[in-house]
Amino acid sequence: VPSKAKVVWEKFSGQTAFERDMYHNGKFPNDFLWGVSTSAYQIEGGWNADGKGPSVWDNFTHVPGNIANSDTGDVACDSYNQLDADLYMLRALGVTSYRFSLSWSRIFPYGTGTPNQKGVDYYNRLIDGLVASNIFPMVTLYHFDLPQALQDLGGWENDVVLDAFHTYAEYCFSTFGDRVKFWMTFNQPHTTVAYGYGLGVIPPGVKNDPGYAPYRVAHKILLVHARVYHTYDQNYRARQGGLISLSLNTEWVEPKDPKDPRDIAAADRYLQFTLGWFAHPIFKTGDYPDVMKWQVANKSDLQNLKSSRLPSFTEEEKAYIQGTADVFCINIYTSKIVRHKTPMLNPPTFVNDRDTGEEDNPSWPSTAVSAHKAVAWGLRRLLNWIKEEYGDVSIYITENGVATNSEPDFEDHSRYFYYKTYIDEALKAVRMDGVNLQGYTAWSLMDTFEWTSGYSVRFGLHHVDFKNPGRPRTPKRSAIYYAEVIRDGGFPL
Ligand code: NOJ
Repeated sequence: VPSKAKVVWEKFSGQTAFERDMYHNGKFPNDFLWGVSTSAYQIEGGWNADGKGPSVWDNFTHVPGNIANSDTGDVACDSYNQLDADLYMLRALGVTSYRFSLSWSRIFPYGTGTPNQKGVDYYNRLIDGLVASNIFPMVTLYHFDLPQALQDLGGWENDVVLDAFHTYAEYCFSTFGDRVKFWMTFNQPHTTVAYGYGLGVIPPGVKNDPGYAPYRVAHKILLVHARVYHTYDQNYRARQGGLISLSLNTEWVEPKDPKDPRDIAAADRYLQFTLGWFAHPIFKTGDYPDVMKWQVANKSDLQNLKSSRLPSFTEEEKAYIQGTADVFCINIYTSKIVRHKTPMLNPPTFVNDRDTGEEDNPSWPSTAVSAHKAVAWGLRRLLNWIKEEYGDVSIYITENGVATNSEPDFEDHSRYFYYKTYIDEALKAVRMDGVNLQGYTAWSLMDTFEWTSGYSVRFGLHHVDFKNPGRPRTPKRSAIYYAEVIRDGGFPL
């Protein structure tokens, strides 16, 4: 049974290609937040500077062969030493927000205990610089870089680590919350559980338990997110007056045959197993989507195990999780095509549990990341799906952008085109569909360390020369274009 949000496929299925691709010139609301995003490990470098402790990513990249070209984030964009260059770029773009993450092991080198004052000073300087430039800081507490000392204790599976996260979050609220009014607990928890604990290609690299580990860890993450939310809500909000949420992610999905109800149901299941896994508990019922519960239970060996592989929440836990985000933060890059897949053939894994097969659409423009096709109208449809599924919540796009290969390309045509068309689809969602979109955040301010791809792909509005020890930054055409869109508040006629 697809969610009622399936109306989105019906709504758009009659649209002609001309209607779909037509530009919608006009402006975004005046108070719309325009920003760019980065994350600590991907830009800071200074991996062991001034008392910083190692994170799981420091250790992972130090094993040759784990990353393309055996690249590491040891220096990355050198932002730890080049704060002024970063602030300069932000001011030149004219952004009104900057989304960045805090490196937990720069603040607490071993995850807990005594804070490292020099690390704290770095973030104070950054936040002060933003506030002085009228740029609204949007701060992520956890963007994949768990302190190694906590991974050594079992990572997100150990309650001691969950306590440490809560303590770290409180320390950040009390230290930075006088100036930071927008918090995200986790960035893309789906990536952590799917790639860290399911496919096992990023830390902590758990590969051998794909039918259980992703569900188990997601369960812990949801509970600790809610705990941090409640602490902020009860102890900090009245004094500090900020918002707290988390950044979720999915691709948009189109059914292979939009007339086949089974394919529509498959597309809906895909979204429930990616976005809904976290969003349904937080923004709806406190519990997982029904379709996830049915699918995983059906594919669990109920006779021998006596329970589904998907853990369940108590009634108290549901009430505790429900409503623990003030706004909806979404990261989206691309679209996919899915079809219904026959269930019988699947061994139990978190991917097979959803009974979806993927199809390529060769006519969709490809990008330097093979899984990412540039399909701007998918953004509008996803925003509509979120509105239908979760109600009229305030939405922030906290990441959106496109990869190009490592060759410097200042003409930057594909990125210019990507931003123009994606931002235009966001505008359609606001003006034509009444989606309550409050902000747009481009990924990324500059080229960064792109996880397992290292420096082999570039997502930046600014080019970074990673071969030059000074890591010079140079605006690409897309930076100049984005600055114009921001200045104009959209695309004036
Ligand atoms: C998602 C992640 O949050 C970010 O770290 C990554 O660099 C971009 N998407 C691009 O893949």
